[in-house]
Amino acid sequence: MRSFYYVLSFAAFVLIAACSTSPEKTQVYHEPYRPQYHFSPDSMWMNDPNGLVHDGEQYHLFYQYHPNDIVWGPMHWGHATSKDMVKWEHKPIALFPDEHGTIFSGSAVMDLNNTSGLGTPENPPMIAIFTYHDAEAAERKETDFQTQGMAYSLDKGVTWTKYADNPVIDNPGYIDFRDPKIFWHEASDSWILALVAGDHLQLYRSENLIDWKLSSTFGHEVGAHGGVWECPDLFALEANGETHWVLLISINPGGPNGGSATQYFIGDFDGETFSSDQTAIRWVDYGPDNYAGVTYNNTPDDSRLFIGWMSNWQYAQNTPTQRWRSASTLPRTLHLKEVDGELVLQNTPIKALEQLKTPQQVDFESVSLAKVLDLPSDQAHIRLRLEASVAEFEIYSQKSEKIRLQVDRSKGHLVIDRSQSGRTDFSEAFSKPIVIDYLESSSDEMTIDLWLDRSSLEVFVNDGRASATVVYFSEEPMNSLHSDDFGKGLSIQEVSEIDRIW
Ligand code: FRU
Repeated sequence: MRSFYYVLSFAAFVLIAACSTSPEKTQVYHEPYRPQYHFSPDSMWMNDPNGLVHDGEQYHLFYQYHPNDIVWGPMHWGHATSKDMVKWEHKPIALFPDEHGTIFSGSAVMDLNNTSGLGTPENPPMIAIFTYHDAEAAERKETDFQTQGMAYSLDKGVTWTKYADNPVIDNPGYIDFRDPKIFWHEASDSWILALVAGDHLQLYRSENLIDWKLSSTFGHEVGAHGGVWECPDLFALEANGETHWVLLISINPGGPNGGSATQYFIGDFDGETFSSDQTAIRWVDYGPDNYAGVTYNNTPDDSRLFIGWMSNWQYAQNTPTQRWRSASTLPRTLHLKEVDGELVLQNTPIKALEQLKTPQQVDFESVSLAKVLDLPSDQAHIRLRLEASVAEFEIYSQKSEKIRLQVDRSKGHLVIDRSQSGRTDFSEAFSKPIVIDYLESSSDEMTIDLWLDRSSLEVFVNDGRASATVVYFSEEPMNSLHSDDFGKGLSIQEVSEIDRIW
């Protein structure tokens, strides 16, 4: 049965490859709802970003991919590369299912000292560690159907060889046991692997990326537990001259606005154990459409670069796109910032995106009078400044489709309503108001950056000290911004059109 599936999957892949050279190719990336400056797969289904690594020359984006349909199915790793994380080049599928199972989420590193022995010192291997999901064993109600596998590439991620003695971590009996994140830990001179096991994190250590030993667990009783823990990430960030460790944990369901979301913990890591005295629950992004996000390994300047999947398991498989489904968030740089006396994880779109901007001349006086800002298109960046305590504004199309935003600085609230944003009929959950109740209260004014890309809106408050990502599906372009508060404590700082990347 399984070999029949592989033949079928290979045949479908060949067919898709053949179609992609046909005349219809010219339509690709112009389909309704297709983001123009966000990464999305050329065709078919995508979910989590995987194997985020810089190889010394370029950034790799592997991703959960189903090459035969626009809904989730037997997972492969799709692949794209970029010099700047702005313009992406599609590559052939990197990892295919095999006798151990399909290929779930995971991560990649450059094994620069060839500790694994799988390359040579002159040509160190790129190593990927991922979860094998044995769907047949799951159907038989076994409990050890998710294990951790390894693969290596000696040509910078183009072709891959599975490690001969997979899996490298066996499952001791957890139904959910997945999404390994590996990284080099300088202080303990070892590789670390972070993995989730249902309701907690497990940390492993290794000298060679092959033999792993469990060193500790974290989180049984802390943080949000409204759903299963997924896609961990653990990394160091500096703040006020000190090193802090940040743990990302995606959960589904149980997000602050329903369904999927990614929480974070700030704490300490000594090479074996992660500890945190954080009691409040904090979210990387308070919107519903930023899930399973993780960060890059081996970045050239040590910056902490993050990409998430711009959807939510509540409706991801039902959104009204054809031919392809879902996109990644804008790549974002993560920092720690002290806000109202405590550290928060700040995320802002990467600087390299500036190259896509064409700044627009705006007559701010007449916008204040007319209360309307006409945008050059629905690919735009708008920076607003709010001095009043409350404000309301809406982004809308000529068909009166709209996304409404209400800010109340005294309460620290931002509410986003996309119930009239176009197609919403594919999910009841989609129309619920989105409430962000964690805006800082100490500053005298607030900046709000809006990044609009045809079917997505990413909102960054106070340079990303809180963010909210939402997708929408309007028939006409959302290219106007209306507010009765323009000129009354709400002003426009900057407007740019954003070029397409395809
Ligand atoms: C998160 C997730 C991961 C898993 C993958 C399967 O969205 O559920 O936990 O590895 O997707 O596609």
